[in-house]
Amino acid sequence: MTVRIAPSLLSVDFARMADELAMLEAAGADWLHVDVMDGVFVPNLSFGVKVIETVRKLTSLPLDVHLMTVEPEKYFDSFAKAGAHGLTVHVETAPHLHRQLMRIKELGCTAGATMNPSTSLDTVREVAGDLDLLLIMSVNPGFGGQTFIPHSLDKIRRARRLLDSVGSRAILEVDGGVTRHTIRDCHEAGADTFVAGHAVFSAVDPRAEVGILRNLCVLEPA
Ligand code: DX5
Ligand code: ZN
Repeated sequence: MTVRIAPSLLSVDFARMADELAMLEAAGADWLHVDVMDGVFVPNLSFGVKVIETVRKLTSLPLDVHLMTVEPEKYFDSFAKAGAHGLTVHVETAPHLHRQLMRIKELGCTAGATMNPSTSLDTVREVAGDLDLLLIMSVNPGFGGQTFIPHSLDKIRRARRLLDSVGSRAILEVDGGVTRHTIRDCHEAGADTFVAGHAVFSAVDPRAEVGILRNLCVLEPA
């Protein structure tokens, strides 16, 4: 199973953004996770299209855009044009989830869905075969550096079974509180792609940390 490490832009030092992005590339990061927050769906504001355009110029890493906004479809066209590789919407903000996924694909992006920890996985059951990516939130969205919610592991296992049951090859990503202490369990539960903000950027050596996290998935325990 391919393992992807997706450091989160939310934890980057914006005063040193070019250097930080170059460091992530040199570290072997696979994607850059981009958290878009509107201050309505989640109690925090982050960044919009201008920042995505800027980041696109500074790195060749695929941009994995996580939309924590009401009416996410308002941003699909501009974010795709700005260079997003994938767009992931929250089911809580997506009453027309199938239409939204199809629109994201039309724009040439990978189409992802996610839900809050308290929201059932059943909310994506009917579209499981249409997903390019399923994101399991392992914290309540809005902030970096939170603690992994342990029962997310069971949700990851159930998500793996759901995707397998429809023959889906969708990426299964985990976001929130992924660290040296939680990543292996998430991988064993069936996830292949891991967002890591605080774990990478608070490490003594952020560049080494990307490889350490990956090795915890791909190497056998000592
Ligand atoms: C939380 C965001 C996450 C956040 C993860 O709302 O969706 O992507 O950046 O940060 P860590 O890895 O620090 O929990
Ligand atoms: Zn995120």
